Amino acid sequence: MVSAIHYFPKGFLWGTATSSHQVEGDNTNNDWWAWEQEPGRIFQDHKSGKACDWWGGRWQDDFDRAAEGGQRAHRLSIEWSRIEPTQALWDDDALDHYREMIQGALKRGLTPMVTLHHFTNPIWVAERGGWLNPEIVAYFERYVRKVVSALGDLVELWVTINEPNVLACQSYFQGEWPPGEKRLNLVSKVNRHLVRAHAAAYHAIHEIRADSLVGLAHHYRGFRPANPANPLHRRVAKMKHTAFNDVFPRACQEGRIRFLFWRDRIDEARRTQDFFGLNYYTVERSSFNLFRPMSAFEAGAFAPDADLSPCGFIANEPSGLWDAIRWAMAYKMPIFITENGAEDENDQFRARYLATHVFKVWRAVNLNWPIRGYFHWSLIDNFEWEHGWSQRFGLWGVNPGTQERTKRPSAEFYAEICKQNGLSTEMVETYAPQVMDEMFSPRGPAELKIEG
Ligand code: FCB
Repeated sequence: MVSAIHYFPKGFLWGTATSSHQVEGDNTNNDWWAWEQEPGRIFQDHKSGKACDWWGGRWQDDFDRAAEGGQRAHRLSIEWSRIEPTQALWDDDALDHYREMIQGALKRGLTPMVTLHHFTNPIWVAERGGWLNPEIVAYFERYVRKVVSALGDLVELWVTINEPNVLACQSYFQGEWPPGEKRLNLVSKVNRHLVRAHAAAYHAIHEIRADSLVGLAHHYRGFRPANPANPLHRRVAKMKHTAFNDVFPRACQEGRIRFLFWRDRIDEARRTQDFFGLNYYTVERSSFNLFRPMSAFEAGAFAPDADLSPCGFIANEPSGLWDAIRWAMAYKMPIFITENGAEDENDQFRARYLATHVFKVWRAVNLNWPIRGYFHWSLIDNFEWEHGWSQRFGLWGVNPGTQERTKRPSAEFYAEICKQNGLSTEMVETYAPQVMDEMFSPRGPAELKIEG
């Protein structure tokens, strides 16, 4: 095998992503903390507790780890409940703390991308009905104004809301997240408020700092027909894609929200993205199931021969990232991969997942598709919502009891990718030899095959 390297464009932004509740610790004043105290909500009743102790200052060493690993960006989130612990009462010390963190990132050469809402609400917001209360739009806008006025001189890249489709679905349909509701009609209501809150935040941020770049982090999940020859499978896969993936990006493009049979106009949401944030993890195979009317008659499963992550949570389907990028391309704006990664405590799976996904990104940038950066989820293990500490997404391991960090081989691999600004045969041979053929085969990658 000759040695070769797939280079990325100069200035491509390599980074990792985290979120406040998952890494900071002691976020006692939000709905997630309260949820964790209820028995049976979280895997084995795990708690976020001190998490990765970023609020206690350990972000400094972790940012060092990121910077030493060649990363040039970090996506972090601001915890609303710290900034506004009770309604309209602002905590300036908390704002200073974030200022220090963001300056710390910049000092280390890490461009900050700041998420303003990553799943958690302050208790006072939850008590007023959370995302079901239309007033949340004004509450959120006021909080965003406060944050952007305080930090806007340091931050150019903003994500208003992380994965609104996942939030609406998990919290108001699956009932697995606070407030634990299971009603589809609530999802349609919450969708509307999320779109309106995003739009209000978008306009507010631009008012405060005109040259900001503002987007959402959209979660794309692939839905492919389990049997492509079966029209019912094809139909449910398409419906699921439309109901889950399309709603938010379309609403923020067209100012119209279409969710199943609900329709609404939200004019102020038209063209409210400067970039497309794309979170991608996996693909499922959809089949028609008459007993799942509430799930659009779709039953999802991973492909029978899928290469699964250790907890069986993610199938390694890099072609799904390719589909996701093509789908995002329709919105005609720069794209950031704002999350991509896998849970894998023993690091047996992550390297080949990373290699094959980064390879798809490389294919896309080679077609001159405007992908500006890639943020791996995550820098370090952290509190993984309802799965507690059972799912380890970090390039670095964290022992939440002792706060000890352990470098996984994938951290070395990712560091080489970031430093070289590319993916080489040597790297893949060292860290993920199983997938060598997929990306350096003399026959070329599958999607370029010429038929006939
Ligand atoms: C995404 C979330 C992130 C983390 C990863 C594994 O859906 O945005 O907080 O839970 O999944």
